[in-house]
Amino acid sequence: MCGIMANIGSENAAREVLAGLKKLEYRGYDSAGVAVFNNALNVFKVKGKVADLEDHVKNQPMAGLVALGHTRWATHGVPAENNAHPHMSENGRLAMVHNGIIENYQSLKNFLIEKGYSFKSDTDSEVLVQYIAWYQDHYQLELTEAVRRSLGDVEGSFAFVILDSTAPNTMVAAKNDNPLVVGISGSGFYLASDVFPLTESCDKVIYLEDQEIITVHLEGDYEVIDFENASITPEVHTLERKDTVYSKEGFDSFMLKEIYEQPEIIARTLKSYVDTNLAEIKIEAIDLHRRIFKQAKRIVIVGCGTSWHAGLIAEYLIESMAGIHVEVEYASEFRYRDPLISTSDIVIGISQSGETADTLAAIKLANERGAFTYGIINTPGSTIARHTDAVSYIKAGVEIGVASTKAFTGQVSLLTLIALKLATITGKLHPLQCKKSIDEFLEVPKMMQEALLTDQLLGDLSQNWVNKESALFLGRGLNFPVALEGALKLKEISYIHAEGYPAAEMKHGPIALVDSEMPVFILATNKSALLKLTSNIQEIKSRKGEVIIIRNAGMEIDAALADYQIEIPAVSEFLTPLTTVVPLQLISYYIAKGRGCNIDQPRNLAKSVTVE
Ligand code: F6R
Repeated sequence: MCGIMANIGSENAAREVLAGLKKLEYRGYDSAGVAVFNNALNVFKVKGKVADLEDHVKNQPMAGLVALGHTRWATHGVPAENNAHPHMSENGRLAMVHNGIIENYQSLKNFLIEKGYSFKSDTDSEVLVQYIAWYQDHYQLELTEAVRRSLGDVEGSFAFVILDSTAPNTMVAAKNDNPLVVGISGSGFYLASDVFPLTESCDKVIYLEDQEIITVHLEGDYEVIDFENASITPEVHTLERKDTVYSKEGFDSFMLKEIYEQPEIIARTLKSYVDTNLAEIKIEAIDLHRRIFKQAKRIVIVGCGTSWHAGLIAEYLIESMAGIHVEVEYASEFRYRDPLISTSDIVIGISQSGETADTLAAIKLANERGAFTYGIINTPGSTIARHTDAVSYIKAGVEIGVASTKAFTGQVSLLTLIALKLATITGKLHPLQCKKSIDEFLEVPKMMQEALLTDQLLGDLSQNWVNKESALFLGRGLNFPVALEGALKLKEISYIHAEGYPAAEMKHGPIALVDSEMPVFILATNKSALLKLTSNIQEIKSRKGEVIIIRNAGMEIDAALADYQIEIPAVSEFLTPLTTVVPLQLISYYIAKGRGCNIDQPRNLAKSVTVE
């Protein structure tokens, strides 16, 4: 993970770097650092956030045309000042910011120790910069060639920017399996982990490809080569210029703001993909490849975390509506288990960021094996979007809170439309039924808005659970993945242990956990599962568990069964994940708030997981 930001050419390059790092903080926020060249290389680092770094440098001489910075998510070495980037070579000549993992760092380090090098940090990144410095010294090379030749010995994933203080008019960056974007502006170059920090200042960008090295010069020119030293002419993309001032708009966290944005996002999704006049779903990625979708023998969905949960919902919907066989896998397992993939398979990668390392690797594997790959992505221009045969974007906009909320409902709404669309293609859904489903879907933004009216009630109720140690979330059918999502939200932002389970699985083990201290959240919004679910609730009640039922308006559930019942508006069953998840997001938010947790930047997490 980690965010890299560098600038060459701006009057106050360090200021540009610090501003960019703030926008990259979702990639990691345990320590931060910046190096600026003004006659000499000055490096400043802190354990903490970019705001702490800003405080730290506010009285320092920061003017200078060249700077590079980093916001870190620890892989090798604890979050600490000495492990923060930029890392320097021992001779003080090179400074580097790195994202990724150098897998053979130990053997490179042993080699360097034998040569008399010593290390200040526990990181693999310091090994990399020292190794490049060794090449440079030993073979008397200029920086680009030292980088290129040393990378021949390096195994792992990386994106890095490196500066040689004896040639400060030039910066070099290289990439393999981690993203690096080069922004071109009137005043110089910006090098960053993604485009977010570039949209205010750059008109053009180059997405560096794997095994490429770019050298950018203060004078405004640049060269790209590959690791074999062949010259490359990169594609230069035009960037839509935007002033991206992210504001909480009066909410006390981005997460709460994003929860409240959901009705609007669903409405935007419907507007983008539904022709209401014709009662037709128009998804260009599918329309353009209709034959492939019609003939698909199987769909395999890969993703991680919340995106994987959205995939599970899609499995239920696509199989039942369209009659196409679907499998859902964690991308991290799929990529390493030698899966059977055929050319008649469609592999769908779901990713909010479009940068998740495991999902990207799973897609690359599916590409190699000849499957048709399809990305469901939130971030335009992201790496996964560029590696799939087709892509459809969810309409969630930038999600800042680390815990995914609006991206999840954005994914689920697009995947629901995809299920309906595929059902029309396979002939399982009559156009009239499709129209009925669309009409029901069009009501969802309003229903979600109403579901948000539970806010105050849930804020009060959640105080009961602030000091709990564990919680269970149970659902059947479509509500099982929603239960997983509810449990994930709670654990990631409140640090309370939580598990999501299919309600009927309780008896096979987890029921042993239930006692009077255990809140059990039951998702009872799908009518078809209600009878069976009622027996599961009885089983929990008889073990004195605290039962909180989330149910649709108009659903009758015996008052004696539940400690609390939370009512949300009724929607058609296939749409229930979109409304059911809303109270779960709010409950997690209020519990985390009650515990004094950092809601937008929970400990140990980062929004974009670009290491495996
Ligand atoms: C949880 C969360 C994560 C992400 C996961 C995949 O709230 O945000 O579990 O869903 O890291 O990320 P993307 O969707 O960017 O591939």
